[in-house]
Amino acid sequence: MGKEIVLTGITTTGTPHLGNYVGAIRPAIEASQRDNTESFFFLADYHALIKCQDPERVKQSRLEIAATWLACGLDTNKATFYRQSDIPEISELNWLLTCVTAKGLMNRAHAYKASVDENVANGQDPDYGVTMGLFCYPVLMAADILAFNANKVPVGRDQTQHIEMARDIAARFNHLFGHHFVLPEAVVAEDDSAILKGLDGRKMSKSYNNTIPLFETEKKLKKGVNKIVTNLLEPGEPKDPNNSTVFDIYKAFATPEQTAEMRQKFADGIAWGEAKKELYELINGQLAEPREKYLELMANPAEIEAVLQAGAEKARARARALISDLRNAVGLVNFV
Ligand code: TRP
Repeated sequence: MGKEIVLTGITTTGTPHLGNYVGAIRPAIEASQRDNTESFFFLADYHALIKCQDPERVKQSRLEIAATWLACGLDTNKATFYRQSDIPEISELNWLLTCVTAKGLMNRAHAYKASVDENVANGQDPDYGVTMGLFCYPVLMAADILAFNANKVPVGRDQTQHIEMARDIAARFNHLFGHHFVLPEAVVAEDDSAILKGLDGRKMSKSYNNTIPLFETEKKLKKGVNKIVTNLLEPGEPKDPNNSTVFDIYKAFATPEQTAEMRQKFADGIAWGEAKKELYELINGQLAEPREKYLELMANPAEIEAVLQAGAEKARARARALISDLRNAVGLVNFV
């Protein structure tokens, strides 16, 4: 049996924060080191265009995210790392899949429905501001996945519906044209260790504006940590680690031994200022080296470009073979 193919896309609209690192980047890179898997990671820059019509933002975010993954230790000899927009086969597959996807299936997509609901609530036309890009988003995502016949797709819980839709679309295509696609499965972290809390104790997310950036300066990292909301307990008063954002973030970076020590310090009444200082030191200790690497890469986009070009070559070689079979299957064949 071949290796299991694990594939995930990263939408390139923002600047990576600690939550992205703990929830997505770190586990993906760890998983890509296993021998029994073959990993595909890509910058979902076609998807970015759906949400963002600011070319500078799109450009900058792709660069930052590519630099981040490389700086965090992604081994591009093992994993295939590429930009979605460098793979024309994905666009081509997108159309083949579009032609077998029921409009009714897309009508049920959460992201689209949320936009419609919001419009209705505001007394607008239901489709106000809804582009075909947004409406067809799940088809493009299916193309990303099916172009490589991925078995496993690590995603956040909010994305599981899209994987179900990719399965439906793949099954429909298989039914019509013969068995070409593996039905992909979503991989959602079972425990909540993949969800890092943000400054205000809610999930760390750009949309809540509660993030701590990953590779800003040490000063900004320290400032971020100091902004984590705590309660008013004084130094010497015991604190509850099970209900503390400072502790939760500490745990996401600590060894089990360090976590146990910190738990004890909470019981012993560590001052919030002290706990935050230890948290900052722990995180900074782990990020200092990748931060250096990140800055080096950001100053040298040609190096990133070369890595991504090589990744695109590798990815295209795989996708090309599949697309060629699919063209035959649907009747797009040469006459002689
Ligand atoms: N939609 C995903 C997100 O917002 C990103 C993405 C695009 C993706 N294509 C993908 C994830 C394919 C997994 C597989 O997080």
